[in-house]
Amino acid sequence: MKIVLCGFMGCGKSSIGRRLAGLLNWEFIDMDAFIEQQEGMTVSEIFAQKGEGEFRKMETEAVKALMIKENVIVASGGGTVMNPVNVEEIHKGGGVIYFLDVPLAALQERLKNDKRRPLLQKPNRREVIAELFGKRYDKYLNAADVKVDAGAPAVWLAKLLAQKIKEEI
Ligand code: S3P
Repeated sequence: MKIVLCGFMGCGKSSIGRRLAGLLNWEFIDMDAFIEQQEGMTVSEIFAQKGEGEFRKMETEAVKALMIKENVIVASGGGTVMNPVNVEEIHKGGGVIYFLDVPLAALQERLKNDKRRPLLQKPNRREVIAELFGKRYDKYLNAADVKVDAGAPAVWLAKLLAQKIKEEI
């Protein structure tokens, strides 16, 4: 089984995913880190030097490469499931998409000091987040096989999800 966590930046894809994989004894892969390793550059450097378009192509390649794995939790990037091709590739590869749904205000709070994410390095950050969240929300919902209310701390959510997944397999 393979589970792909999706959702907005800061929703906990990586922190929940890492814990969840630990509880299930599965492999954990962070897609951004995977791309960074492949390219030998950080996501910020890729955006700055090659542009967002190139990064999106790398994302699709990463999805294809990762969907051959089994017993894996993949933390996708916040933009990954915006591309229907990626959603299709995930499903084609047998991946189940979990959308970690966190309210906008909580995301704005969590992301207020972020220095790492290229899309957020703008002065009017709260508005940037709100606008992007508004544009993306329905796409997360549509891509998702499972929607998780994910406002609670990562430790609890990982335990809860691990329990559910164990019941299903
Ligand atoms: C992005 C989210 C980031 C990273 C890149 C673009 C986005 O991943 O892939 O900065 O478009 O939302 P996280 O959601 O892990 O921060």
